[in-house]
Amino acid sequence: MTSRPARENHREDVAGRANVEDTPELLAYYDDLERFDAAALWTVANKIEPWAPKSASVPVLWRYRDLRDYVLRSVELVTPEKAGRRVVYLNNPGRRDVAAAVGWLYSGLQVMHPGEVASAHAHSASALRFIMEGAGAYTIVDGHKMTLGANDFVLTPNGTWHEHGVSSDGTPCIWQDGLDIPLVNALEANFYAVHPDLQQKVGYPVDDVTSAWGNPGLKPSTGAWSKGYSPLLKYEWAPTYEALRRFSRATDGSAFDGVLMNYVNPVTGGPVMQTIGASMQMLRPGERTRAHRHTGSFIYQVAKGRGHSVIEGKRFDWTERDIFCVPSWAWHEHANASASEDACLFTFNDLPVMHSLGLYREEAFGDNAGQQPVTA
Ligand SMILES: [Fe+2]
Ligand SMILES: [Fe+2]
Repeated sequence: MTSRPARENHREDVAGRANVEDTPELLAYYDDLERFDAAALWTVANKIEPWAPKSASVPVLWRYRDLRDYVLRSVELVTPEKAGRRVVYLNNPGRRDVAAAVGWLYSGLQVMHPGEVASAHAHSASALRFIMEGAGAYTIVDGHKMTLGANDFVLTPNGTWHEHGVSSDGTPCIWQDGLDIPLVNALEANFYAVHPDLQQKVGYPVDDVTSAWGNPGLKPSTGAWSKGYSPLLKYEWAPTYEALRRFSRATDGSAFDGVLMNYVNPVTGGPVMQTIGASMQMLRPGERTRAHRHTGSFIYQVAKGRGHSVIEGKRFDWTERDIFCVPSWAWHEHANASASEDACLFTFNDLPVMHSLGLYREEAFGDNAGQQPVTA
């Protein structure tokens, strides 16, 4: 007779938690239930309801100097026509099964050469791009064409027709893509469509969205907007950085994040898309934040400067263009390495999901003056 693997039984010797010892009679009972596609909750309850979130993701730092050459090499290896999108994606060792960079968020580095155009498409996943290098990149979203430069942030929301390209007089461009593909797949709600003409027409003056919606404190008198995402599809670096500099003169900042501003939908003041939020934060010269943890998964890109972050006791040194992730409920703190220059971190996250589902929770690190002991 072949012996079968031991049954799962996650016992905890704590009042209120499941703690049932196996007996021959119970093991036979479990076998019976299995025949009817059923099982006893008390054998798995402690596993499926942990005391606190247990992220399968691990903190990772992706150094741009490690990945940049491989991203550029993909240009010689595959065409955008054949690949659809020419992307090297960030594959968290704990989330390979769902191709996530962290939690339920996907991210990748995409490259396009001057004159290249990717076909227009739409999907249920919400997407964003953060431009890393190059000149001449553009994105068209539902007929709105946007020109893009380094550190610009652009939305391609759920359901919109969108396509990307680089003008023929530009230079090779690399940007970071961020999507909620793993989340939408987990919810079994993902649709994908290729535009019937493969390319869409530009229906508005170039960069009309920033002209209309990118004016602080002012809203256009025409053009009502009620969609679930921001009508300001592009957030440029220069006004974002200027806003951070101005805010830094008026605030002490957050003990956990320094000077942080959220990118928002100018109509609602809420997040830029229904499932993905984004922010830019400035760590002032010499600034070191205190540690905290919260629900929600975060992907950071270093937009400016150098420094380090401590995530779950492990130190990650970063410089401009590096990307790192903070899993849900992981302790994290940040430090600017320069005593004279500020450092800026771009972040996108699933906070809108956490907030709208009532799942956001946050905690400060209490010991050691708010800073984690570094163990790795
Ligand atoms: Fe897309
Ligand atoms: Fe945080």
